[in-house]
Amino acid sequence: MRSIAVLTSGGDAPGMNAAIRAVVRYGLEKGIKVMGVQRGYSGLINGEIFDLGRHGVSDIIQRGGTILRTARCQEFRTEEGRKKAANILKAFGVDGLVVIGGDGSFQGARLLSQLGIKTVGIPGTIDNDLAYTDFTIGFDTALNTILDAIKKLRDTSSSHERVSIIEVMGRNCGDLALHAGIAGGAESVIVPEKGFNVDELCRTILQGKLQGKKHNLIILAEGVGGAQELSKTVQEITGIDTRATVLGHIQRGGSPTAYDTILASRLGGRAVELLLDGKSSRVVGISKGKIVDLDIEEALTIEQTFDEELYELANIINK
Ligand code: ADP
Ligand code: F6P
Repeated sequence: MRSIAVLTSGGDAPGMNAAIRAVVRYGLEKGIKVMGVQRGYSGLINGEIFDLGRHGVSDIIQRGGTILRTARCQEFRTEEGRKKAANILKAFGVDGLVVIGGDGSFQGARLLSQLGIKTVGIPGTIDNDLAYTDFTIGFDTALNTILDAIKKLRDTSSSHERVSIIEVMGRNCGDLALHAGIAGGAESVIVPEKGFNVDELCRTILQGKLQGKKHNLIILAEGVGGAQELSKTVQEITGIDTRATVLGHIQRGGSPTAYDTILASRLGGRAVELLLDGKSSRVVGISKGKIVDLDIEEALTIEQTFDEELYELANIINK
């Protein structure tokens, strides 16, 4: 292994830059050349590859987004596109590739490894939807962004004695909603993994009002449906003034938290270590506080489990 490249792919996530920095500096320290690929697989196909030195990643550890840019690329989903990408990497003398992204990006990395390029995936997504790792890079930062918003919405909801429905991201995964619900003390958490009944929700809201609650905060995962629509229904049924807030892409930006920065740095180092050991088609992650690695295919077949215990706890202590 004399030369490796790193790219970011799919939705960006805070902490991706810290991971890029770790990959570059770890690789250089071990005496190999490190290159950056711009715009994910799309840049790979177009040969947007450049050398990265130690100072090329200076002053990025604290920055959100990704200095390499990111993209979604249809062409890479085709065999022809992937062959083009593999040939480009060979032309640039790249032996190994670090892919920072989510499950889709990992599928791409797995297929690329079949064309002779050694690949390792680092989980970078705010969704925390990869079952093999306890946390993905960006999740903790997005969670804290949501928490900040909840605190503000709590103030205004109390003043006006309103119901506030806060829609958060996560695609089909309810982790952001559930963790935000616990941390923000929200009265209800609605996630795709659990059934949801609007009448039951309204009963909870009305019971809360009878108990003297000044506000009612509801965290809604985007995978369940829209906050605006639910807000109208809740207002109609309960007769209580209800407002919807869709947090949107604000959840994807910002300086990474200490947790995400440290996780990204650890995963970046391990990813390079694996390539140096001649490993391929692996992903790195964290399990019970330890950095782990496993085969991509195996990692992607592990079924996502929902934290029922945490959900139950939210229902008991937040009502
Ligand atoms: P994420 O990595 O965050 O899950 P996407 O699902 O959008 O994001 O995937 C990012 C990119 O990875 C896609 O635009 C595509 O180029 C590549 N990709 C995704 N799925 C596959 C697949 N099954 N085969 C090959 N490439 C894929
Ligand atoms: O995967 C990260 C994510 O932010 C999801 O939570 C969300 O559903 C999606 O990406 C939004 O994608 P886009 O940036 O293309 O709007």
